[in-house]
Amino acid sequence: MDEAIEITVTVNGTVHREQVAPRMHVADFLRQHLGMTGTHVGCEQGVCGMCTVLLDGEAVKSCLMLAPQLDGHEVRTVESLAVDGELAPLQQAFKDAGGLQCGFCTPGFLMTATALGESGRTLDRAQIRDEISGVICRCTGYEGIVTAVDRVLNGEES
Ligand code: FES
Ligand code: FES
Repeated sequence: MDEAIEITVTVNGTVHREQVAPRMHVADFLRQHLGMTGTHVGCEQGVCGMCTVLLDGEAVKSCLMLAPQLDGHEVRTVESLAVDGELAPLQQAFKDAGGLQCGFCTPGFLMTATALGESGRTLDRAQIRDEISGVICRCTGYEGIVTAVDRVLNGEES
């Protein structure tokens, strides 16, 4: 077995020092080492987007990165959004707009949309649809998801 590698990574504001297997991907690291099971794993080959997290503020597919690459970096997961049990505006918008059904894809959309919101860009509905196309949903038909992101980014539906 390959020797473990020590990494120091900040996840949702907390610094973690962990010994990781060289070939463990980031989604498994979050779930298995830190117990953060909000990051979902679907395809494990960069297609479904369900595993999306923020790495230094950028949305990345965490199944495509290895845990040792996190050393010295900052990660945010879906667990960072709600505070004291209160849903973040984006989560509330998904709930209100019917942006989820089974919910398996939802963490991926929420983190992708969080990065979009923090980018400060102005996006119309078609551009939102394009920007979130890296995450696949098998339930909703996307309309509610686009509506939720639109409401949070633009304050109303564009
Ligand atoms: S599990 Fe990472 S893209 Fe599908
Ligand atoms: S809500 Fe089920 S896959 Fe998106």
